[in-house]
Amino acid sequence: MFIAKGECVAFPTETVYGLGANVFDVTAVKKIFEAKGRPSDNPLIVHIAHDSELALLAQRIPDVAHEFIQKFFPGPLTLVLPKSKFVPSIVSAGLNSVAVRMPSHSVAQAFLRAAGVSIAAPSANLSGKPSATSWRAVKEDLDGKISCILKGDDSPIGLESTVVDCTGKVPLVLRTGAISLEQLQAVHARTALANPKKTAAPKSPGMKYTHYAPTATVVLIDSVDEIRRATKKSAYIGLSMPSPALHFQKICMSLEEYAQSLFSFFRDADAAGVTHIYCECVPEQGIGRALMDRLRKASSRL
Ligand code: TXA
Ligand code: MG
Repeated sequence: MFIAKGECVAFPTETVYGLGANVFDVTAVKKIFEAKGRPSDNPLIVHIAHDSELALLAQRIPDVAHEFIQKFFPGPLTLVLPKSKFVPSIVSAGLNSVAVRMPSHSVAQAFLRAAGVSIAAPSANLSGKPSATSWRAVKEDLDGKISCILKGDDSPIGLESTVVDCTGKVPLVLRTGAISLEQLQAVHARTALANPKKTAAPKSPGMKYTHYAPTATVVLIDSVDEIRRATKKSAYIGLSMPSPALHFQKICMSLEEYAQSLFSFFRDADAAGVTHIYCECVPEQGIGRALMDRLRKASSRL
C-alpha cells in the first residue's frame, strides 16, 4: 500500500478531498508540502479512524474536546488539542498543538483503516487554489505529483471542516464550516468565533494565506440587481435568479447546495475563461457563515 511505502494518497472526505501521508513519517509528510507548494508554517490536520488514536496524538484531551468528540465525531469538525511529543513538528508547523479530525465519509474511513496509522492531510489542491471537491479537481492540480487518487463521488459538503481550538479557556472557532457556531454553542455555550485581528500571531496559521481564490475576480453582491455590465465572460452563482440570465450561471436551491457547488463552480468558471464571478451574499447563520467566510476570502486579494 502507498502509505506504508511513504507515498501521498488523495482521498475523498465529506468536506473536501484530502492529500494524506503517514503522520509519523517525516519524509512522506514533506512530499505533501512539496506537491501542494504549501508554505511550511501552515500545519496539517491529522485524520483518524478511531478514538483510540488520540492517545498517541494529543498530550491530553481537554473536557470541552471530549464533549465535541462525543457529539460530532465522526464528521466535519477538526479539534485543536495539546500536541503529544510523538507528532513530528513538520505536521504542526512547530506549534505545540495538533489538529485532529475523524471523517465520516465511508471511503475515507476505509482508507484510514487500511492505512492502519493516523494520516496527516491538508486539502488536495495546489496551495492558494480552491479546495478540491472532486477527484477531477485533484487530478487537475496534482496529476504527476502524487502516487494515487482514490476516486469517490463529489464531496457532499463542499467546504472544509470547522476548526475549533480547545487548548484555551473557551473553545474558539478558528475556521467556520458545516458544524455551525450554533451547534457548537448548544454543546458548550461559551464557544466563540476567533477574531484573527485580535491575536498578534494568527491562531490558525492557514488563515493568513489567500485561500479559495479562482483566477477570475470575485464580486460579492447583496442582490442580483447589482449585476451590471455583465458580458459573455461574467458568471453568477447564488440563490436568486438574475434577469436577464447570464451566459454562465448556477442557481442553487438551498444554502447547502450553494456551499457544495461553490469551489467546483469557481474551477469551472476559470476553465471557461470567465473574468468576473458575481456571488450572491447569504445570511450569516448555520452554514451561511462558512459560505460567507469563503466568499469574502475569494473576493479579497490579500
Ligand atoms: O475539511 C477539512 O478540514 C479538509 C479535509 C481534507 O479534512 N482539510 C483541510 O486541511 O481543509 P487544510 O490543511 O487545507 O486546512 C487546515 C487548517 C489550516 O487553516 C491550518 O492552519 C489549520 O487547519 N490548522 C492545522 N493545525 C492547526 C493547529 N495546530 N492550530 C491551529 N490551526 C491549525
Ligand atoms: Mg487547504
